[in-house]
Amino acid sequence: MMQLGQYAPPTHTIAHLSDTHYLGGRRALYGKVDTDRTLVRAIEQLERSGTNPSAIVITGDLADLGEPDAYVRLRDELEPVANRMGSKIIWVMGNHDERGPFSSILFGGDSDDATPQDRVYDIDGLRIVALDSSVPGYHHGELTDDQLSWLEEVLAIPAAHGTLLALHHPPLPSPIEIMAIIELQQQQKLADVIRGTDVRGILAGHLHYSTNGTFAGIPVSVASATCYTIDTSAPQDTLLGVDGGQSINLVNVYVDTVTHSIVPIGDFTQVAGFSGVFLEKLASMTPEERREAFSSKTSTFSVAEAESSQ
Ligand SMILES: [Fe+2]
Ligand SMILES: [Fe+2]
Repeated sequence: MMQLGQYAPPTHTIAHLSDTHYLGGRRALYGKVDTDRTLVRAIEQLERSGTNPSAIVITGDLADLGEPDAYVRLRDELEPVANRMGSKIIWVMGNHDERGPFSSILFGGDSDDATPQDRVYDIDGLRIVALDSSVPGYHHGELTDDQLSWLEEVLAIPAAHGTLLALHHPPLPSPIEIMAIIELQQQQKLADVIRGTDVRGILAGHLHYSTNGTFAGIPVSVASATCYTIDTSAPQDTLLGVDGGQSINLVNVYVDTVTHSIVPIGDFTQVAGFSGVFLEKLASMTPEERREAFSSKTSTFSVAEAESSQ
């Protein structure tokens, strides 16, 4: 990857997806939403980009009703792409998931209804901790004292590139007040465990719209859903789920910062752009030449290139 500015390329790129909400038999969600279409499109876009993320993190609500076929289909759609890109898939439990089929189908073990599905991954020195915030039989989120003690132990030894936590229920407030009923409970306990550790970011889902904030001083990024989204412009005190605006996030981990870039899912008409040849020409220039060619308002370089590529 070329470097044209002050920042060295990211040490890691992670794709962050959330809330696929698959139903068995490819039934449409609410009888209306083709959940597979948007996910397949999202992974096509990911593969087209050539980014080859080292991990694909899916922060929960993989299946809408926990049906085995939903997990099988999701796995079968994602695994071939992940294998081609060299990406590790990190599955995270959500409130719509069921631990039994989740554990047996995605991890190949015995079906385990009782044990929280918490796992630690080492992605080339970047630690990713998948935390299961689901509560059997409910939609709100919770982390048990056992889970928090486990997390404390895991975080006791820092990782080379730090840690990203991935959990379904974000430790953030929502402007859509009804979501508070199904939010992560007792968030202070989690704050006490992760404050001052090497956790550099928290990846979450559940809300079905993109948002971000901080928790215990740590940035939190919520990826929207790939299935349907919640319209944050809906009239106050209403909840409006719509088949539009779906997106995924690209997480770039740099030495000193972590960025979360939203990738809208869709096949949009191109109206502007530059080719790889154009970028190579810029890369071959000195920094001063580059500035004159691309930053100067009186430069004719960009115009000439745009015309020659038409
Ligand atoms: Fe969801
Ligand atoms: Fe959820």
